[in-house]
Amino acid sequence: MALYSAKVMDHFKNPRNVGIIENADGVGEVGNAKCGDIMKMYIKVENGILTDVKFETFGCGSAIASSSMATEMIKGKPISEALQLTNKAVAEALDGLPAHKLHCSVLAEEAVQSAILDYYTKNNIPYDSEQFKCVLCAHGEEHVEEEE
Ligand code: FES
Repeated sequence: MALYSAKVMDHFKNPRNVGIIENADGVGEVGNAKCGDIMKMYIKVENGILTDVKFETFGCGSAIASSSMATEMIKGKPISEALQLTNKAVAEALDGLPAHKLHCSVLAEEAVQSAILDYYTKNNIPYDSEQFKCVLCAHGEEHVEEEE
């Protein structure tokens, strides 16, 4: 079996929703200290719905494919639903990632949460810090169990 699924290759070669949103309502930036990859996510929110999502990823192909898929999965959805997005769901939607690349999908989950947290903070919207524990902590290390 090929190392990467056709879906990973598709989203890597033709990533959806690449770019920036100039007047974004929330911007999240996360990185993985080990590989040095960085992901930036922009969201536009109207009545609790993510009306637009864009991303910039400076990283590996799996990180690009994961962020592309993540934006597709949350665009047009309520924030509450986007917050449920897990790296496992992203990886599954991509028909799987190699074990040593699962952390790339973790970046996507964290970037989404980080952008929403930024939106909540900017608008003084109260939130449950439990929900954001991974992006509020030092980043990444909490998810190490996802790796090989
Ligand atoms: Fe680190 Fe892909 S190798 S995000």
